Amino acid sequence: MIPRILLLAVITALPALVLGSVNYTCLPTQNCWPTSSEWQTFNRSIGGKLRVTHPRAEPCYDDVSSTACKDVATGYLASKSRASQYGAMEYLNFEVCGSDQCLLNSLDPLTGIHGTCSLGRLSAYYVEAHYADDVSKTLAFVQQHQIRLSIKNTGHDSFGRSVTANSLALWTYNMKDLGYHKAFTPSGCKTHYQDIGEIGAGISAEEAYTFFETLGFHVTIGAIGSVGIAGGFGQGGGHGPLGPSYGLMVDQAVEFEVITADGQLRLINECNDPDLFWAMRGGGGGTYAVLTRYKFQLHPAVPINVYSFEAGIFGASLIHDFTKSMVHRQVVTALAKNQTTWSNNHVAGYNFIYPDRIISLQILPSNDTEILKSLTADWNNFLSSHPGLRSAQKAYLTFDKFSDYIAFTRRPSIANNGIVGVGLAEAGRLMPRELFSTEAGIENLVDAFLQGMQISSTLGTGLGSGTGQIYATGPSNHIDNTKTGVNPAWRGSLWEIVFGGVWLKTDAQEKRDSIQHAAGEAIKPMKDLTPGGGCYMNEGDWMEQDWQQTFFGDNYAQLLEVKRKYDPTGLFNCWKCVGFNGEDDPFYSCYGQSQNSPIPSEPLRVPELVQQIEL
Ligand SMILES: *[C@@H]1O[C@H](CO)[C@@H](O)[C@H](O)[C@H]1NC(C)=O
Ligand SMILES: *[C@@H]1O[C@H](CO)[C@@H](O)[C@H](O)[C@H]1NC(C)=O
Ligand SMILES: *[C@@H]1O[C@H](CO)[C@@H](O)[C@H](O)[C@H]1NC(C)=O
Ligand SMILES: *[C@@H]1O[C@H](CO)[C@@H](O)[C@H](O)[C@H]1NC(C)=O
Repeated sequence: MIPRILLLAVITALPALVLGSVNYTCLPTQNCWPTSSEWQTFNRSIGGKLRVTHPRAEPCYDDVSSTACKDVATGYLASKSRASQYGAMEYLNFEVCGSDQCLLNSLDPLTGIHGTCSLGRLSAYYVEAHYADDVSKTLAFVQQHQIRLSIKNTGHDSFGRSVTANSLALWTYNMKDLGYHKAFTPSGCKTHYQDIGEIGAGISAEEAYTFFETLGFHVTIGAIGSVGIAGGFGQGGGHGPLGPSYGLMVDQAVEFEVITADGQLRLINECNDPDLFWAMRGGGGGTYAVLTRYKFQLHPAVPINVYSFEAGIFGASLIHDFTKSMVHRQVVTALAKNQTTWSNNHVAGYNFIYPDRIISLQILPSNDTEILKSLTADWNNFLSSHPGLRSAQKAYLTFDKFSDYIAFTRRPSIANNGIVGVGLAEAGRLMPRELFSTEAGIENLVDAFLQGMQISSTLGTGLGSGTGQIYATGPSNHIDNTKTGVNPAWRGSLWEIVFGGVWLKTDAQEKRDSIQHAAGEAIKPMKDLTPGGGCYMNEGDWMEQDWQQTFFGDNYAQLLEVKRKYDPTGLFNCWKCVGFNGEDDPFYSCYGQSQNSPIPSEPLRVPELVQQIEL
């Protein structure tokens, strides 16, 4: 890929930007952009960790028959391998800016490759940070030159907050420390904690549970192994199979090591900078500071008990209106009726309601393998004897090791619900506990869900359209909300409902847009049912207009105040994060909602050519 023909790029001035008070707007075409020698000096100051970005599929655009290309093609949908490379995003949306892209056709990667491999939204340069000092130096450098900063950790982000065209990227993937404290007292505090885990910014969920499992502990991770749990997960919420037992990831936090905009390294906790600690426990990643270490409560390992049910729906191809499908209605109603009891008893749930089948997992971490059986006995009887269901798989399972439970969830029928290496649109809503407490509430809830399915399947035309995901993985027994800045809507809710759809490179922009639109529309019946309610900030619709209330709830004003205190110039900024500059900030021109025409990342200039021009 990169820029063989750069004269054009250098000469063509980008549109003049009217920026108001928006800061950090230097573009590579402007005089404020560092010279080659300034970049080199910076590189030396960080021990040579400045890197030139290579988009993941670059080898295929260079030579489709090369071994390097075949490797890319083979692993195109593999989340761990995508996460291990700066030049790949988990969702293709965020590799693209306007018509600039370097995509492969996800399902048939070696076909249809033509045109130029461009950076799209990826930064031309990134810093491969290993130490806190690399971070401080990078913050100072971007402030000196007024360059936009982006922070990328590990795993997916459904708003693309980890990538910004023409920014300098700070990549924290390689911060891989792992440690255990039998006893721990946060800096400056008197509180004593036991069994505290400590991880560097780039530790993934898989690395965390693998390490702590050998020490006899569980970690409150989510469903996807590639997620960096100290990043947007651990700063924005973090739900998963242990949520109903122990709460969100942010609930486990006892201390963070962060570098604030002023370059200061701080150990923040309930005693030091408690306002910042509160905000970073739920206010979102990439917003307040660069987090380098995360210390959190571990939990003694117990077996993971699972009730797993998968079934096809008889006559599914004849269903034209899901609101009238008795099977769908009865299944979702039974689920809703049982939910309060399950949540109160620490049972977590993953339920995928497809147009033609259902997959339902009820999960209870417990030494007592009988509890889950009795809690789900009615549900099991109901499903097993339902004449509209063709049971494909049904089992009570007990996994002594967390890693064995994870291995079980990697079966395609479950894992495919978290597909990456494709374009993705999604929208979600948290459903309050009150709805589950009356017959009328349950009826309204089920109606809204089935309407969502109907809208998703008629408006959406992508893979996954028509399928509703129901997560009962939140902090249903951890209602104390004063210590974390996370969206209060989490605390009182029993379900997180998500609708979405997938697009491929071969889908035209119009189709991509309609899949995005369908996700937002599908969630509307759930919104109408929950006025003033919310959505998990990491699993929402990036087009959400009412984003402050929806993603942050009544905490927004306080979160913004803390943001202004620690980051007065807006050094840290991302799409619909606290302190977001608005859709018209030209650095968000790649998002469809922006009024600006897309300004993709400017490729690096070849020094010789630049010199010729300067002569
Ligand atoms: C930064 O320095 C290292 C070590 O000298 C070098 O390998 C790397 O290519 C340099 N980065 C850039 C962008 O020039
Ligand atoms: C769970 O669902 C089944 C099937 O609808 C029902 O028989 C049972 O009463 C429900 N349990 C509760 C606690 O509502
Ligand atoms: C679970 O059982 C094991 C083995 O009997 C025991 O050592 C452990 O303390 C129990 N854990 C809990 C949380 O009850
Ligand atoms: C830009 O920086 C100035 C201080 O240098 C600050 O007053 C202003 O609020 C900043 N703008 C944004 C959008 O953060």
